[in-house]
Amino acid sequence: MNVYDSERMVRLLQGCDYQVTSDIRQADLILLNTCSIREKPEHKIYSILGRLKRMKDKNPDLILGVGGCVAQQEGEILFQKAPFLDLVFGTHSINKLPYLLEKAEERRSKVCDVEIVEDGYLDEGVFDSSLEKVSSYLSIIRGCNNFCSYCVVPYVRGRERSRQKEEILVEAAHLARRGVKELTLLGQNVNSYGNDLDDTCDFPRLLASVNEIEGIERIRFITSHPKDLSDELICCFKELDKLCAHIHLPVQSGSNNVLKLMNRGYTREDYLKKVGALREACPEIGITSDVIVGFPQETHSDFEDTLELMKEVKFDDLFSFHYSDRPMTASIRFEGKIPSDEKKERLKTLQELQNNYSLEKNAARLDKVEEVLVEGVSRKDVNCVTGKTRSNKTVNFPGGDNLKGRLVSVKIKDVHLHSLSGELV
Ligand code: 5AD
Ligand code: SF4
Repeated sequence: MNVYDSERMVRLLQGCDYQVTSDIRQADLILLNTCSIREKPEHKIYSILGRLKRMKDKNPDLILGVGGCVAQQEGEILFQKAPFLDLVFGTHSINKLPYLLEKAEERRSKVCDVEIVEDGYLDEGVFDSSLEKVSSYLSIIRGCNNFCSYCVVPYVRGRERSRQKEEILVEAAHLARRGVKELTLLGQNVNSYGNDLDDTCDFPRLLASVNEIEGIERIRFITSHPKDLSDELICCFKELDKLCAHIHLPVQSGSNNVLKLMNRGYTREDYLKKVGALREACPEIGITSDVIVGFPQETHSDFEDTLELMKEVKFDDLFSFHYSDRPMTASIRFEGKIPSDEKKERLKTLQELQNNYSLEKNAARLDKVEEVLVEGVSRKDVNCVTGKTRSNKTVNFPGGDNLKGRLVSVKIKDVHLHSLSGELV
């Protein structure tokens, strides 16, 4: 979502005659779009701000702004922590950015806008005429109503608001005309799409409509909450030809005790049943997930339950984190916090186990021919291009820029932990 929001900021500012520079020393304006989902990304902001302060000392005309979730969370307090900042803007203030910057440039005072807009959608009408992407995000629902006990998102992004279906389809068609071949529909919980709209459009029906758009060849979505993954949505993997065979389905823990403490609304058995149904509907589906280790009161046996679930599911890839307290959340007040060393130890064990499965899953692709959508020349090797399989695995293979945007067949010749390599057939 932050990547999408940053792109929106760029598009909005290009409309006001700003240009992007890849050399930070050339910049007259620097905006940091921030994440507060865990402690680590938040800490990172403060160390970057230290660096930016030195730049501002040298060039007092430089305008510095902080946006996104940390800005939403901290508001005016950020000016105390970083007095050299000119602008603080929250998650609902992106549309106002040109106006806020104008105010900041006048230099009468520091500008802070962290108002949460509860009605109306926030993404209308910023179209990019200079787009050169093969794959694009498209936001369909913002905010979250789930209040998982560890999660700051409902507090910094507000309640769920779905975007009107017609608007989504207009933007999707626009992106297709600009050469986009793959759309990733975005939301904190896409499965809730339409719950707050008057008409009867739900997420599976939205997917079916996007599937009809000429020029779009692949559709993906993130993120799905397991408790809301309906039979209808599972069926889409069988019925919609453009929907790619991949789902990111965060499980968070394999222990029912911990899932309850997390307020996730499903059990380990429910989760495994959904995985079974997904694999029955689409045997080649890639399944990735998120796990938090060291949640308050997580015992060794709870942790073993998570490892056991991983053995049963064998995720294609796993994003794993150790628990960190977040402001405003319920779990900040939970007893039984796990010591830092123990959390690190559990994370290491879990990641080592997952590496075996990631490699095993990739090795199963060896000598197979995969459909790859080429995104462009590889950053690591100018003689190679990079793209993704339908199951969301990155593939690198020899080729040139002329392949960008094309769906090609690639024979897999070698496998690594997080990518595959092959050759065009
Ligand atoms: N501590 C650790 N990990 C967290 N996540 C969300 N909140 C926390 C927290 N307080 C993880 C979850 C979520 C992912 C985006 O970040 O696994 O799915
Ligand atoms: Fe956070 Fe839970 Fe909402 Fe995901 S579903 S954004 S983890 S509160």
